[in-house]
Amino acid sequence: MDDVATAQRRQAAQAAAALVEPGMSVGLGTGRTALLFVEALAARVAEGLEVADLVATSHKTAAAADAKGLRLRDMMAADTAPAVDIAVDGADEIDAELRLVKGGGGSLLREKIVAQMAGRFVVIADAAKRVRQLGAFALPIEVVPFGWAVTAARIADATGVAPVLRGGEDPFVTDNANLILDCPLGAIADPDGLVARLAAIPGVVEHGLFLNEAHEVLIGTAAGVERLTRKG
Ligand code: A5P
Repeated sequence: MDDVATAQRRQAAQAAAALVEPGMSVGLGTGRTALLFVEALAARVAEGLEVADLVATSHKTAAAADAKGLRLRDMMAADTAPAVDIAVDGADEIDAELRLVKGGGGSLLREKIVAQMAGRFVVIADAAKRVRQLGAFALPIEVVPFGWAVTAARIADATGVAPVLRGGEDPFVTDNANLILDCPLGAIADPDGLVARLAAIPGVVEHGLFLNEAHEVLIGTAAGVERLTRKG
């Protein structure tokens, strides 16, 4: 029996799986909600839905998709297609403008690449992920291992907050062989300004602010799936 949050995630995941049409290529996110989407999509494929191919945003998601017999695109191949029709992923925080914090699972770099490849990027979540202002969830930042402490000091200068190395003495290593610094910023008053400051720091590979990627958000609620779309 699902707990409330899992039931909401499952509802959203099933609604997103229903958006996939025959012949589409599909981006698969990472995390608990994204894995429920993989499950829901695999169920549709088992019922006869034919998808073109799938792009996974992490080794973990790739393994889950593979275990269900789903066909994955080789993202290292020279002839890799430049786009997917739809990508579906979870989020750690979602504000009213559909801006996101992502990266709780440490896969933010591949998630952003796939989100930006997508003709339609659909975020699925439980109701607790909606926030008035981004930032209560510590912002994950992927950095190269070389000089990571120097990079962390630069991030502290740029944000006023000391980042924390994920995993501490036994650091978490991303699928790209990088590290994650979690930055407990509190309310982020100016997300665009923060993105610009982080982009200027050598050693920062990517951060978990997804300000323009989400086209729509599906939230599971007691009253059914709520659909939020980007305005303008
Ligand atoms: C993975 O790196 C993240 O971006 C996830 O999408 C995010 O952490 C949400 O995960 P859950 O669905 O597990 O809450």
